[in-house]
Amino acid sequence: MGPSEEELRARLQRVGQAHLLRFWAELEPAQRDSLRETLAQLSAEELDEHCRRAAEACARERGGAGQGGLDGSLEPIPAELLGSVCRSDGAMLERWEEEGLRQISQDKVAVLLLAGGQGTRLGVPYPKGMYDVGLPSHKTLYQIQAERIRRVEQLAGGRFGVQCTIPWYIMTSEFTLGPTEKFFQEHNYFNLKKPNVVMFEQRMLPAVTFDGKAILEEKGKVALAPDGNGGLYRALMENKILEDMDRRGIQYIHVYCVDNILVKMADPVFIGFCVSKGADCGAKVVEKAYPTEPVGVVCRVNGVCQVVEYSEITLDTAQMRNPDGRLTYSSGNICNHFFTLGFLRAIAEKFEPQLKYHVAIKKVPFVNEEGNLVKPLKPNGIKLEKFVFDVFQFSKNFVAFEVPREDEFSPLKNADTANIDTPTMARQALLSQHYRWVVKAGATFVDASGQRIDKKHSLSGDEESPVVCEISPLVSYFGEGLETYLKSKNLQSPFLLDESAAEFMAQHE
Ligand code: UD1
Repeated sequence: MGPSEEELRARLQRVGQAHLLRFWAELEPAQRDSLRETLAQLSAEELDEHCRRAAEACARERGGAGQGGLDGSLEPIPAELLGSVCRSDGAMLERWEEEGLRQISQDKVAVLLLAGGQGTRLGVPYPKGMYDVGLPSHKTLYQIQAERIRRVEQLAGGRFGVQCTIPWYIMTSEFTLGPTEKFFQEHNYFNLKKPNVVMFEQRMLPAVTFDGKAILEEKGKVALAPDGNGGLYRALMENKILEDMDRRGIQYIHVYCVDNILVKMADPVFIGFCVSKGADCGAKVVEKAYPTEPVGVVCRVNGVCQVVEYSEITLDTAQMRNPDGRLTYSSGNICNHFFTLGFLRAIAEKFEPQLKYHVAIKKVPFVNEEGNLVKPLKPNGIKLEKFVFDVFQFSKNFVAFEVPREDEFSPLKNADTANIDTPTMARQALLSQHYRWVVKAGATFVDASGQRIDKKHSLSGDEESPVVCEISPLVSYFGEGLETYLKSKNLQSPFLLDESAAEFMAQHE
């Protein structure tokens, strides 16, 4: 039993939020319980503080303090902190990969997926990880990720002659936990062992009006939104995830966001690079494609490494170029981070309260005083979010690692009606990559009459693949090992190399 109506009303009245009980008399007992439960998650004082903070931050933002405020204090990230796949020789990359695989083989590496977002831009009513971008296999993002985990476990285990496990932590929110759990159950956890897939939930916070009132989205329901992907650190504490990692002997964590179809799960090269540099915190970046590309940039602000979001930088700064023509602020954040367990512990236990809140101003449906549902045409509500990368400032040894975009970054953000980051583009990025692998492995695509379809040995990143060619992650994680099946083979489009096709091809050399 929670507090009585009178108690609740008195508490809310004290902090100017009694409107949340405006329709109490009309609510069914179950609705009352659920409202009581929501309100119990924040004390009246916390609610008050949250609403004040939101209104103040929003007023500052609308006063123009957000954009450009930082420009004078920005510097690019120093070259000595920035590793790069393209600028490193093959032997070095192999050493990093070997180091990463060694750590994986010793069960010291975990992956952590940020999957609590609502994916509003994509506009589907289910979690983004369940999206099928229309590959020949119709695999969803979750399935692709699960299979990459299995494959890289095999690679590391094979290299060092052991069996090893990469636990998969998945941060969800009230929106995504239920459907994600159900989806994994229905797919038998994509043949991963269930205890090695750990789902936990981030916190939700009320959406607030510009004058500091929590919003009712239904008569008995407060409008809530996840507290941003930086809600991770609080969620790690509240759900005792760091203890779980410690019990398993995890030392390094690869954190990534759900929507990048090319994500290299527990990327051995990235992990090996970060471990070799003794880093406690790292970020993968790609060279920004054009000044207004909607990615954050990794840079220094007043001498401290951090990500400045695309909304926080002015066009003038975004357009600055070096004498060689490259963008001055070119290190685009792809939301792939490396953390040591010790670093995560320090953040969760000590620094989390210092992480700043970012303001998102959104259209939040609400019930008006008469009890009618209103879908606002203009933004009316404030959501406060923490960002996962705001912890870089606490790192003792931060590094960034630049990777080729065509191999590692194609995010699914928007529906196909948009002109970037769409399902079609994600599908194409993956098919082109697999086509490049297949050609490199020595196969040729021919048409029905045996004519060679394309002689080119490599495609540049944004070129469309001339054929439909998909390789299961269970066969190859990053293009490795394909010669065994494909050298000197003639193939026809559409070509799908899954485990059984690979077995067949290996037997029919
Ligand atoms: C994010 C990065 C941006 C980067 C871009 C690359 C952040 C804050 N921004 O931007 O710098 O250039 O990816 O694609 O990281 N999420 C949660 N809980 C939440 C909100 C989001 O888990 O409360 C998850 C999402 O499910 C997603 C990830 O965080 O997996 C990124 O969130 P999203 O809002 O899509 O960030 P972007 O604006 O695309």
